[in-house]
Amino acid sequence: MTALLEMRGASKVYASGKRTVVALQDFDLLLEPAPAKIVTIAGESGSGKTTLAGIVLGFVAPSDGEVHFRGHDLRRLSRADRKEYRRHVQAVFQDPYGVFNPFYRVRHVFDLVFRNFELARGRPSGRRCSSGPSRSWASTSGTSSTSTPTS
Ligand SMILES: Nc1ncnc2c1ncn2[C@@H]1O[C@H](COP(=O)(O)OP(=O)(O)O)[C@@H](O)[C@H]1O
Ligand SMILES: [Mg+2]
Repeated sequence: MTALLEMRGASKVYASGKRTVVALQDFDLLLEPAPAKIVTIAGESGSGKTTLAGIVLGFVAPSDGEVHFRGHDLRRLSRADRKEYRRHVQAVFQDPYGVFNPFYRVRHVFDLVFRNFELARGRPSGRRCSSGPSRSWASTSGTSSTSTPTS
């Protein structure tokens, strides 16, 4: 069975001037697609948890090693595949209030999601999806995301 997510020998070295910091070294992780799992990464401050999350999310480029999602190397994703990857792999941030710009209306935040992930044809259609009483945002999006913004 193709792994859902596989990291092999992932490392990250941050360099600024002469100083280098090894944030992650030779990290392996294998997540099978089934059964669904919750995996916790625990470690002391500075041990590389955020760096690891950044690599999985595609925000941080590893210095070494490989990351595969459903058999596809993250470094070789086409633009379209990368968009698809972002639909499936997302962060639920610890501070929900810090994530949303208070100057935006909630409606605008939903519009952004529908537009960026092309979940609906045009704004009116997207609004019907996000406000319909019997359809939740998560089920409409077709993703396995567990978090729905509520404020
Ligand atoms: N952008 C960066 N530039 C330089 N060093 C960094 C950067 N991000 C993190 N680090 C360093 O990498 C190490 C791991 O950091 P981090 O991944 O944030 O760990 P954690 O989330 O477990 O606290 C720390 O020593 C941190 O100072
Ligand atoms: Mg951290």
